[in-house]
Amino acid sequence: MLKLIDGKKLAEERRTEIKAEVEKLKAEGITPGLAVILVGEDSASQVYVNNKEKACHEVGFHSEVYRLPEDTTQEDLLALIDKLNKAEHIHGLLVQLPVPKHIDEQAVIHAINPAKDVDGFLPENMGALLIGDEAFVPCTPKGCVDLIKQSGVEIAGKKAVVVGRSNIVGKPMAILLLQENATVTICHSKTKNLKEELLQADIVVAAIGKANFITGDMIKEGAVVIDVGMNRDENGKLVGDIDRASMEGKDCWLTPVPGGVGPMTITMLMKNTLESAMRKRG
Ligand code: GUN
Repeated sequence: MLKLIDGKKLAEERRTEIKAEVEKLKAEGITPGLAVILVGEDSASQVYVNNKEKACHEVGFHSEVYRLPEDTTQEDLLALIDKLNKAEHIHGLLVQLPVPKHIDEQAVIHAINPAKDVDGFLPENMGALLIGDEAFVPCTPKGCVDLIKQSGVEIAGKKAVVVGRSNIVGKPMAILLLQENATVTICHSKTKNLKEELLQADIVVAAIGKANFITGDMIKEGAVVIDVGMNRDENGKLVGDIDRASMEGKDCWLTPVPGGVGPMTITMLMKNTLESAMRKRG
């Protein structure tokens, strides 16, 4: 029987834990602060940023959201980042991506103080993650590890296949699974025989960005399947990278879309911001 891993419920539990830690910090006179910068009118970004703001309020953080016009210059954006980099009350800082075309995304990301890079996008954090030093771990893969553990299936010694090699999800996901002592394979658009690779996997993390791309016949019985996909199907319905209908009846664990990885991602952003405030306190 297909068993679902409830990301919404787990995210609520994690937020309750974070809130309790925030209350302790507040008793010491520290309120974790997250600053989010949004440039332009991208509708998906507006939803994400609103949700981040809401989550901050829910866990008791100080939240600052800068909604800047589409024609903001790179110079003005960098000046704001510089100001927030130096602000004592801000522990986490991010610029919502994508930024408008006239702005150099890499220049913007690299301008962020690595000690406030709660997205975990900077080379300082990626490098630290790779060698097992203290780092801000990108939020989506961090949430995925929590979800896999929630299934109760042991990761150590298992064969894990990550599908997708992005800097934000696929690559850090593979590193985290390796740290958990899985045997890890990364598959991507040039992989030959994806089905063959997947059929050997005890753990699958799908981060491809193609609606219903992986079907039940490509998944081994007993596997834990984490679906990072957030796609619209031909009817405009939100669906994952895993074809849910063809998974029915399989003896597997699966994260649903919606209600799986999605709620965990922003929760891990809260966790990283909390960790940043705790690190600063020492
Ligand atoms: N755009 C889509 N996802 C993200 C994210 O996790 N962080 C930032 N900064 N921008 C995004």
